[in-house]
Amino acid sequence: MRPLLINGEWLMTSHASDNINPSDTSDIIDSFAQAGLAETQDAISAADAAFASWSLTTPQVRHDILKTAGDEIMRRKDEIGELLSREEGKILSEGVGETVRAAQIFLFFAAEALRLTGDKVASVRPGVEVDITREPAGVVGIITPWNFPIAIPAWKIAPALCYGNTVVFKPAELVPACSWVIVDILHRAGLPAGVLNLVMGEGAVVGQCMVDDPRVSAITFTGSVGTGARIAKDSLPHMRRLQLEMGGKNPLVVLDDADLDVAVDVAVNGSFFSTGQRCTASSRLIVTEGIHARFVEAVAERLKSLIIDHALKPGTDIGPVVDATQLEQDCAYIETARREGGNLRTGGDLLKRDTQGYYLSPALITDTTPDMRINREEVFGPVASVIRVRDYDEALSVANDSEFGLSAGICTTSLKYASDFKRKSEVGMVMVNLPTAGVDYHVPFGGRKNSSLGPREQGSYAKEFYTTVKTAYTAP
Ligand code: UN1
Repeated sequence: MRPLLINGEWLMTSHASDNINPSDTSDIIDSFAQAGLAETQDAISAADAAFASWSLTTPQVRHDILKTAGDEIMRRKDEIGELLSREEGKILSEGVGETVRAAQIFLFFAAEALRLTGDKVASVRPGVEVDITREPAGVVGIITPWNFPIAIPAWKIAPALCYGNTVVFKPAELVPACSWVIVDILHRAGLPAGVLNLVMGEGAVVGQCMVDDPRVSAITFTGSVGTGARIAKDSLPHMRRLQLEMGGKNPLVVLDDADLDVAVDVAVNGSFFSTGQRCTASSRLIVTEGIHARFVEAVAERLKSLIIDHALKPGTDIGPVVDATQLEQDCAYIETARREGGNLRTGGDLLKRDTQGYYLSPALITDTTPDMRINREEVFGPVASVIRVRDYDEALSVANDSEFGLSAGICTTSLKYASDFKRKSEVGMVMVNLPTAGVDYHVPFGGRKNSSLGPREQGSYAKEFYTTVKTAYTAP
């Protein structure tokens, strides 16, 4: 059993939960101690007590720990990448790639610890000095999803520690292994007791306890809109800062003048790689009528050629869906889309492989309209729908017709349409001739509308969430 980490001590509990490989449900990766209310409260107390001294450490101390951790993750990228693919089901190259990304994030924030600056401003009053500085927010509650088992924990934990906060960290129940590894690495890298606490367990118990505790001054969460909304509502009495990254229904517009090969690559990658389980996945393919038939044909052909199998098997293009519940949800959405008039052009079949896993062939649904549920709600699986439109203007208006606003893409060779789309997309991230998913680690990440609440994640913009600004006036 892998223990919790509370106040610098590894702690076993009486409950444990098995971590099961979605490519092979007979493969139990490990079992993980589960925190209850008491352990979560202890973790919050430890983080609260550790804040006074950690918040005053020098940037050099924080740099050195983050750098040591980043170096170790990079050194162990193959081993950790394999563990990631085993617990989440994305293919090995994606597991290793995500682990490298996590290492780069730690190295970025190691350097960022040395770069935090303030401002000195002339006062409007004679003889008065004004200093504007940033201070850590306090105890940060971190709640992460299952689809990026190491990158998302890294991009929340690294900036939290970089700017002098202490942390209570709850990883997703389905993927605790990579989280456990990075906490172990940070602990051995020399973090003082209580600065980073790991509490694995149920959202309804551990997550809710963090939300209900006034000592948690900030919560950063990635997950569903429903849970995000509950966190926001229950946080209101505590007036804490929030950073919520939630769903997407990301459009990819393909115009008549697009390079067909580029458009097909971008669509297949953005919609289906990582089994489509990314909040940035392109789930609405909005295609103008002059290229529609050729595009649909080429995407369908490509999908049929992809190998869906065990995530660790060489040659696999797409691994399994993460678990039985998600698989059921994916199939239910495909069924609903068909009932509402969509045409299942290819995929949507449950596949049998040598090992028992949650295998679903990538589904492309054509002849859909913007009002159908398949175009309004996030599926979070290898499922994309096609909406046929007349021209660019209709494509833009359909693209923006969503309660979500995370990422949007366009495939075109026209500078005019590319520029207009970048300007008018109601999203946080916009891509031209690139997949809507798969982002750089050093620039802001986040969206608008129901996709996001609060300041951006990643890059130096992360400090807007992890620090609070102080304005100091001094008279001589
Ligand atoms: C990416 O597309 O590279 O949960 C990252 C998610 C996002 C991360 C996407 N927060 O899918």
